Amino acid sequence: MAVPRVRTYVPGLDEILYGGIPERSIVLLSGGPGTGKSILGKQFLFNGLKRGEAGAFVALEEHPVAVRRSFRHFGWDVSQYEREGKFAIVDAFTGGVGTGQREKYVVKQVDDVHELSDVLRQAIRDIGARRVVVDSVSTLYLTKPAMARGTIMTLKRVIAGLGCTAFFISQVSVGERGFGGPGVEHAVDGIIRLDLDEVDGKLYRSIIVWKMRDTRHSMVRHPMEIKDAGIEIYWDKYIRLTGTSVKIDDLPKEDVEAMKKAVQEVEERPAKRIEEVEE
Ligand SMILES: Nc1ncnc2c1ncn2[C@@H]1O[C@H](COP(=O)(O)OP(=O)(O)OP(=O)(O)O)[C@@H](O)[C@H]1O
Ligand SMILES: [Mg+2]
Repeated sequence: MAVPRVRTYVPGLDEILYGGIPERSIVLLSGGPGTGKSILGKQFLFNGLKRGEAGAFVALEEHPVAVRRSFRHFGWDVSQYEREGKFAIVDAFTGGVGTGQREKYVVKQVDDVHELSDVLRQAIRDIGARRVVVDSVSTLYLTKPAMARGTIMTLKRVIAGLGCTAFFISQVSVGERGFGGPGVEHAVDGIIRLDLDEVDGKLYRSIIVWKMRDTRHSMVRHPMEIKDAGIEIYWDKYIRLTGTSVKIDDLPKEDVEAMKKAVQEVEERPAKRIEEVEE
């Protein structure tokens, strides 16, 4: 049976996911510093806004002012959507302290996941959000790794329960192979990993879908670029990095055709979304 999918509209991403993210999934967006996680999250949200899907951004890493600025850096102006009540930033960064204008959605105890989920629930309800990005979940359990799974599950219940699809950004250090710890990796529905590798004095960006429940997905590493207009994934190419060499090849024709067809099908006959809301 066709699963309802949320199109990311990030160039190349829906192709490697055979149509998009299964609705209500919580996807871990994992990668080292500077790999493009925050940009991809913002692009996912803004692409939704442009098409009438409200979205919320939970800011744990950056000041809300910096978040708006980095949206703007790529030409994604969220202010209009914010005024219309279609976009919200949940400020889990300042703790409500500091000068300047106070945000509408503020988490005072930034490490209290229950307060965070209450504020987020309110924001999602107020704006009717369909998409959520939490940047980053790692911040929530950095000093208490034993809490990671519980933290993820609490957020997941609220977000998926309200019918949203989300990216949870997870920070890993350079050279680390995992995605953010076993408690987290099994609790989420999908894992997308972004990488930056140095070969011969040059950095190469790539993306790989490690898991995505309820759908087939590409099983190879794809080259990726960040441009002034955002992220672009070369879905019809795969990249092989060995540490000393880089090889980029065309994907087999059958794979390219299958991905193209899957996206077309979602475009022409989107599966009906599940309307019931649990919370
Ligand atoms: N206009 C642009 N053109 C090309 N690359 C850009 C542009 N703007 C930003 N970048 C690249 O994007 C990177 C930052 O991406 P992003 O903020 O998404 O990283 P991140 O994965 O969230 O990292 P961190 O874990 O440190 O927050 C920069 O280091 C830079 O390489
Ligand atoms: Mg970031």
